[in-house]
Amino acid sequence: MNNLRLSGKFNLIFLTAFLVCIIFSGLALSSILNRNTESQTVAKAQIMLQTMDSVRNYTSTQVNPELAPRIEKEEEFLPQTVPGYSAREVFEHFRSKKEYAEFFYKEATINPTNLRDKADEFETELVKHFRDDANAKELTGFRPYASGDLFYIARPITVTMESCLRCHSTPEVAPKSMLATYGKENGFGWKLNEIVGAQIISVPFIETINSSRQILLFVMLAVCIMFSITILFLNLFLKQTVIKPINQMAQVAHDISVGKMDTEFQQTSHDEIGVLANAFNRMKLSLSMAMDMLNNQS
Ligand code: HEC
Repeated sequence: MNNLRLSGKFNLIFLTAFLVCIIFSGLALSSILNRNTESQTVAKAQIMLQTMDSVRNYTSTQVNPELAPRIEKEEEFLPQTVPGYSAREVFEHFRSKKEYAEFFYKEATINPTNLRDKADEFETELVKHFRDDANAKELTGFRPYASGDLFYIARPITVTMESCLRCHSTPEVAPKSMLATYGKENGFGWKLNEIVGAQIISVPFIETINSSRQILLFVMLAVCIMFSITILFLNLFLKQTVIKPINQMAQVAHDISVGKMDTEFQQTSHDEIGVLANAFNRMKLSLSMAMDMLNNQS
């Protein structure tokens, strides 16, 4: 450090400070962005789940009462009366847009009426978790998917009403039209208060992560550019106000030391360098007076 020039020392300190700042601010920003990404994803999933619940609610309070009589009379079952069906259909429509293709909604059921609702291995584990822990009202987490992780929110589906058992207990009591459409094999044997499945919404996590990486990169780049410009200006300033005047003073002092008494220290400013130049000029004056006195005596 002692062997370095003034500008070298100055730049070394400045670069060290810059590196420390950039590392700490980068870490802080990335952790804030990560947390932000996570909360955005959670919020997105919660809104979708609430929307699906509203669709289910609309179906059971407004559509079902209108169509229920037809289920008994007609040969073909009307799945439009089933909340789970309408939620799934609405969601499939939503997913048909390319940017939402990786959003998923499923009423994953261990023994479903419609086999498209059959719980896979992962979903079965979630249902088991709900069955084992009666207090668990919601599970969240990540699930690997081809294009990256999916964030999911899962809630238990419980048979809360006696009326459900009409169609989900035994084929004997189920509407004929339903048996004609779905058969007698699946979706029966459910019990009151049993947890039969899990309502699961999954949203992609990767997209939001990418956008926060872009923000991080952009901010870091902007900070680097600003620091570089600052270093450049400070170097110019240092050269102009400190290094150049000091070099000039050194040259003048050298000239005086070899006897060129007609040169003067230039005072170009009123800062510490200027004060120093002034002091040197006074010293030069005393020196030449002392030398004159010596010369006169001899
Ligand atoms: C009128 C008969 C009927 C009644 C009553 C009924 N369901 Fe269903 N439920 C069905 C049919 C049919 C399906 C399959 C719909 C489809 O094609 O997606 C189904 C699907 C479901 C599903 C999706 C998983 C699966 O089995 O495919 C769940 C969960 C479900 N019902 C729960 C309930 C609950 C809880 C109740 C009581 C509040 C209830 N159901 C009442 C007929 C009924």
